[in-house]
Amino acid sequence: MCGIVAVTGYRNALPLLINGLEKLEYRGYDSAGIAIVNPEENNLICNKSEGKLIKLKNNLSQQEIIGTVGIGHTRWATHGKPEVKNAHPHLDSTGKVAVVQNGIIENFLDLRNKLEQEGVSFQSDTDTEVIPHLIKKELNNLKKLNLEDNGSTLLVAVRNVIADLEGTYALAVLWADAPDSLVVARRQAPLIIGLGEGEFICASDTPAIANLTQTILPMEDEEIGLLTPLGIELYDSNNERQYRNPTSLKCSEQVVDKMNFRHYMHKEIYEQPSLTKNWIEKYLTRNNDSNNIRVNYSFDTNFLEDIERIQILACGTSRHASMVGSYLLEQFSGVPTDVFYASEFRYSPPPVLPNTLTIGVTQSGETADTLAALSMEIKRRESLENKLCKPNLIAITNRLDSSIGRQIPNIIDISAGIEIGVAATKTFFGQLLSFYGLAITFAQIKQSKTDNEINKLISSLENLPSLLEDLVIQHNEISEKLAHEFSEIKDVIFLGRGINYPIALEGALKLKEISYIHAAGYPAGEMKHGPIALLEKKVPVISIATPGKVFEKVISNAQEAKARDSYLIGIAPKCEGTEIFDYLMPLPTADEWLSPLLAVIPLQLLSYHIAAHRGLDVDQPRNLAKSVTVE
Ligand code: M6R
Repeated sequence: MCGIVAVTGYRNALPLLINGLEKLEYRGYDSAGIAIVNPEENNLICNKSEGKLIKLKNNLSQQEIIGTVGIGHTRWATHGKPEVKNAHPHLDSTGKVAVVQNGIIENFLDLRNKLEQEGVSFQSDTDTEVIPHLIKKELNNLKKLNLEDNGSTLLVAVRNVIADLEGTYALAVLWADAPDSLVVARRQAPLIIGLGEGEFICASDTPAIANLTQTILPMEDEEIGLLTPLGIELYDSNNERQYRNPTSLKCSEQVVDKMNFRHYMHKEIYEQPSLTKNWIEKYLTRNNDSNNIRVNYSFDTNFLEDIERIQILACGTSRHASMVGSYLLEQFSGVPTDVFYASEFRYSPPPVLPNTLTIGVTQSGETADTLAALSMEIKRRESLENKLCKPNLIAITNRLDSSIGRQIPNIIDISAGIEIGVAATKTFFGQLLSFYGLAITFAQIKQSKTDNEINKLISSLENLPSLLEDLVIQHNEISEKLAHEFSEIKDVIFLGRGINYPIALEGALKLKEISYIHAAGYPAGEMKHGPIALLEKKVPVISIATPGKVFEKVISNAQEAKARDSYLIGIAPKCEGTEIFDYLMPLPTADEWLSPLLAVIPLQLLSYHIAAHRGLDVDQPRNLAKSVTVE
């Protein structure tokens, strides 16, 4: 979380910084700020404001700030409330050193206490503010050494300071006495350098760069760099100068506009039928013999033949998609599969077993917990002698240009197009489709299903786009009307079983995220073991009941809720049994395997309309960020 952008070159820095920050606002929008070197006065001009970037833009519109070197930040609060005093950039006491940071400095309290004992007075409650004070102190020490120029002095000062920092960071530093220079450094937080002509831009993510250049140099972990309009010097943690070729951006900046939709989230829900169509064209190839369909991957899948078990690491919505994936991989393809919260896996991984496939699922490709869990798993497996325990890896992501895209060679590209709404919808859908593809591949490898059964699933997937098109239109209207009934509602329960239990969890997460209504998802059979105590008239129950293995069971569980006076909403086809629902959000009758792909649509639309009806900021809900780059 938090977005960093930094530029040095020949053009006015302010518009470049603002443009970059606009592209990074998905990383946090608690506050925003910039600092620019004013070479004429040998000082820094710093401007920050609480809340979204638009406020900063309004502040700055009255001012003319000339300067070609600057840094900017959009914040997702960790230490200190979202107030101006905690907004970045943070300055040292002379106002000559400015720092923007993404990450968490875990030993900041110790460092702060020491600095305070030395007489430094702090202006913010952040962990970041220790950094400019420490750099200034270091610069004072280095002055005595008379290093070749001020840019190099700043580089050395930052290097000495980061050696004492614990935790994670991506940072960019300015010093008024080194007016052309920028120092940037990273540890477990992304930072990418864009190479323009006579100018360089460094940012947390590629969209902030794409406007200026397509040539990039992603920084490696623990690297530090000095950027001036004349060039870049990069060093690793051993202070060895690094030379490597830049690469090109994998995706050009996509122009994303809202079309006629009020919110991106609404538009993204509507994009799901067409993304399914694209996915079918991209991933399902029919050979000449039309019965022989293979899923296309960009990597060699031979290694999958030896796989005996799968572990999936993910967070939030990606975890819910993984749970559907796990159901498919076990029940359709016959491969034992476990899904882990990435944040838990890291500190309590299961014992290492041979022939295991590890799948990291993250739409952004930047989620710190998922990246750290994957790295930990790779390290512990690589350290083993047993070849059968070596890491077999796949990542499922929507961002090829992300950290995961660069780290893991076997990538399944969700190809959903950039998602702006902080609440994931179409990328969830793309993740589900990716798991259907994997389940088909494994079923073919393991012969867990007959060709007929596999082909039946494939045909159902091929028929999906037209079903989805109708479903989105129909449920948009239904949900818009139903949303009015939720004006006074404070709690909602979502029930599902089997393949649709994760969809109940996802329905609850969507509602919580954007409408701030408390919601919880349960496996329908678990209700009677406790949560049923919550039920009463004012607690609606939304139950996913799709014909198949557990249909009757779900209907009985819904009866139990109805007997406690709950208003019962069914996500189900109109068929015998579903008359018990007070309100039916109808689904088409379809193959049970496909039911999650249908059931999720009404849930997304209902959450959307409830939040929109309440007048909330649907695309940027409070306290959230699209990409969670802190642990
Ligand atoms: O980028 P990732 O898929 O790794 O993100 C994981 C979660 O942070 C994310 O799914 C989060 O739960 C979303 N806000 C869900 O809408």
